[in-house]
Amino acid sequence: MDRLHSNGTKVMAVIGKVKHAQQVVDSGIDMIVAQGHDGGGHNSPIGTFSLIPQVVDAVGDRVPVIGAGGISDGRGVAAAMMLGALGAWVGTAFLATDEAGIERFQKEAITESGDADTIVSRSMTGKPARMIRNKWADAWVAAGKEPLPMPYQSMISGPVIASGIKAQRKDIMPGFAGQGIGLVHSIRPAAEVMRDLVGGAERALADARFYS
Ligand SMILES: Cc1cc2nc3c(=O)[nH]c(=O)nc-3n(C[C@H](O)[C@H](O)[C@H](O)COP(=O)(O)O)c2cc1C
Repeated sequence: MDRLHSNGTKVMAVIGKVKHAQQVVDSGIDMIVAQGHDGGGHNSPIGTFSLIPQVVDAVGDRVPVIGAGGISDGRGVAAAMMLGALGAWVGTAFLATDEAGIERFQKEAITESGDADTIVSRSMTGKPARMIRNKWADAWVAAGKEPLPMPYQSMISGPVIASGIKAQRKDIMPGFAGQGIGLVHSIRPAAEVMRDLVGGAERALADARFYS
């Protein structure tokens, strides 16, 4: 941490529990991302709406807290800020952009999926991760097999993932994504997604003031 700070690097950590927020704050972190159960990738058991305010209460006076998990449009950004976050950290919505470094078929899988099309599975990395439902994850459940602990499960899943991507198999490796996936309808330039997130948040926050 000292070496990173001495060369001007800001350090952030994605956490999913108050306990982990406290641990990283004590390490001297600059910013915390509180990512709830809705989020894509490695996953918290706690829902985004419950997690953000509890992390803000626990550490918000010491470091900035950013909310994450299922935030795919401006309303979500506004909601995270209402819960006490200083901003939002968005993953899934930026995967369906021209600039994202994933495969075209994976971007299409995102635009074709709805709210119920993601699952949390340990089949890829050994730790619970939210991904678009796929045959590899289903096969682990059907086989009743316990995945190996991280990082060893990736040695098993890695070749399957690589082959699935090479063969453009949406049914095997559609990728990690969060539950806000149903709000993502097309592949667009990242700047457009950003404009909508900011504009939508501004509108939602202005409406909230109107009701107060
Ligand atoms: C494809 C993908 C890969 C991710 N990889 C990482 C990672 O390597 N490290 C990390 O801290 N978070 C990772 N995340 C989590 C994101 O940093 C972010 O917290 C999450 O995407 C927010 O939820 P959302 O996808 O619902 O917007 C990943 C998320 C996705 C979708």
